[in-house]
Amino acid sequence: MKVLVIGGGAREHALCRSLSLDPDVTALHCAPGNAGIAEVAELHPVDALDGAAVAGLAGELAADLVVIGPEAPLVAGVADAVRAAGIPCFGPSKEAARLEGSKAFAKDVMAGAGVPTARSYVCTTPEEIDTALDAFGAPYVVKDDGLAAGKGVVVTDDVEQARAHARSCERVVIEEFLDGPEVSLFAITDGTTVLPLTPAQDFKRALDGDQGPNTGGMGAYSPLPWADPKLVDEVLETVLQPTVDELRRRGTPFSGLLYAGLAITSRGVRVIEFNARFGDPETQVVLARLRTPLARVLLHAAEGTLDSEPPLTWHDSAAVTVVIASHNYPGTPRTGDAITGLEEVAELDAPHAYVLHAGTRRDGDAVVSAGGRVLSVTATGEDLAEARDRAYAAVGRVRLDGSQHRTDIARTAAGS
Ligand code: AMP
Ligand code: GLY
Repeated sequence: MKVLVIGGGAREHALCRSLSLDPDVTALHCAPGNAGIAEVAELHPVDALDGAAVAGLAGELAADLVVIGPEAPLVAGVADAVRAAGIPCFGPSKEAARLEGSKAFAKDVMAGAGVPTARSYVCTTPEEIDTALDAFGAPYVVKDDGLAAGKGVVVTDDVEQARAHARSCERVVIEEFLDGPEVSLFAITDGTTVLPLTPAQDFKRALDGDQGPNTGGMGAYSPLPWADPKLVDEVLETVLQPTVDELRRRGTPFSGLLYAGLAITSRGVRVIEFNARFGDPETQVVLARLRTPLARVLLHAAEGTLDSEPPLTWHDSAAVTVVIASHNYPGTPRTGDAITGLEEVAELDAPHAYVLHAGTRRDGDAVVSAGGRVLSVTATGEDLAEARDRAYAAVGRVRLDGSQHRTDIARTAAGS
């Protein structure tokens, strides 16, 4: 099978790594990719938001499957363009991707499907904003309706800050605060059959102890030793399957990766958000534990034949990933800094620990930073403590001027 992966972050590096290890995959391409992905896939320049360009590239490469990593191309309808060219594509249509692209749409689907989520108001005027803030009280949860790379959400006790953020958005969702730990659960679906993956937890705040601003994600681990073993079955039954059924019922079937961001509250599981693609950095740890070869499952999802797939199987191991971010992330990150120490990780820590590239590019012989999140250092072990030790040992070998990372990824869960 010839596979083309669209995107160029650590999630796509994790996807390409898994696909490169899959005996079914005879050729692996990625566009636009990054300096790390270049080691496992052939890179091609492309404007990932241009459906005709992506479909054209897939045609030239005679790809049997296109896998779209990030949300922006999905929301722009790139999967539709690829499918219209007759090429199987893993990723939802533009219509179905609104589940991620519009928080108001997601709330409407959840209401239709009877999926438990925070009560909310969609507001467009200052009066509506004040009424909603008053109705819920502190802590305030204020979400820009559109795509904002995880940075459009403000959770604060300060009503002035909540109001200011709400007024800066064209359309805003204001909702009830959900307490309790967060879980990310992904499912692969063809629009009818739903195959859940294994749960993971990510760390969204920039600083240790869940302090600082929200980011795209600073680290993740899997499995979750503290979670109820019945969690996956419960979420499949109350969240994932009803949502997929509702979107099919509406005439906009969702095929691809359905990502449920959940809060395990004192009153039960609630959906915080849906995403329409693999989560980053959770994908790095989920795929590290996946035993089933990935390509055929993704192809079956793309072709609507997922019912022929047996349940996914998992390694009995733990995985931890720690994100190394640039100076000043998530503000205006500094880029162009040289990264060294990658060979040492490859020599001393492989195969248990490895570096997945997020925002990197080649500059002559050097690898330099090219984005906010630069690297996602991933490790496996018999348990979380071992995976964590290995991940941080590898992080310690990587040098990037001004970089930052959290030191407490998976610490509580590992009991260390
Ligand atoms: P979202 O982009 O919707 O995932 O929100 C980003 C982060 O904001 C989530 O991962 C949560 O940590 C936090 N958050 C979002 N909605 C709520 C809520 N209703 N209650 C508490 N925290 C929330
Ligand atoms: N881990 C958060 C996200 O992918 O949106």
